Amino acid sequence: MSKINSTLQAAVNQQINKEIYSSYLYLAMSAYCETINFPGTAHWLRAQSQEEWEHAMRLFQHMIDRDGTIKLSAIQEPPSEFGTLKEVFQKVLEHEQTITRNIHELYELALKENDYPLQIELQWFINEQVEEEKTAGEILEQIKMIGDHKGSLIMLDRHLASR
Ligand code: FEO
Repeated sequence: MSKINSTLQAAVNQQINKEIYSSYLYLAMSAYCETINFPGTAHWLRAQSQEEWEHAMRLFQHMIDRDGTIKLSAIQEPPSEFGTLKEVFQKVLEHEQTITRNIHELYELALKENDYPLQIELQWFINEQVEEEKTAGEILEQIKMIGDHKGSLIMLDRHLASR
């Protein structure tokens, strides 16, 4: 495989940072959900946090395979409070929408730089983002339908525990 160029190396290193931040953010959300007594949601978010770490590792491995230089940078501190359960999932969805934009920008750059292997690698991420936005959006819609009905929120929380 051809060596990844320096412009793309910098961009992929940045995306690795964003995926690790995503992992950190969902871990913070998971801890928060434990404090507001939604252990099922906390479990779901912890699994999500692990997935984000795996996303970072996919890009990490791609860089290694392409003779790129990994440059790890500081991870931003996530918030520690996220409001109501509805607000938690609003924030998950918004975050995923931001990540989708980041992935699309990275893909555009890979097109501009004629880097075919990176384009192929990023196609997995493009599909994954469709899935992630869909899942977060569906949970958010369910929470909106439930409204303030505590019993139904507890049922949803139990459902999220099964992830
Ligand atoms: Fe790795 Fe949820 O984006």
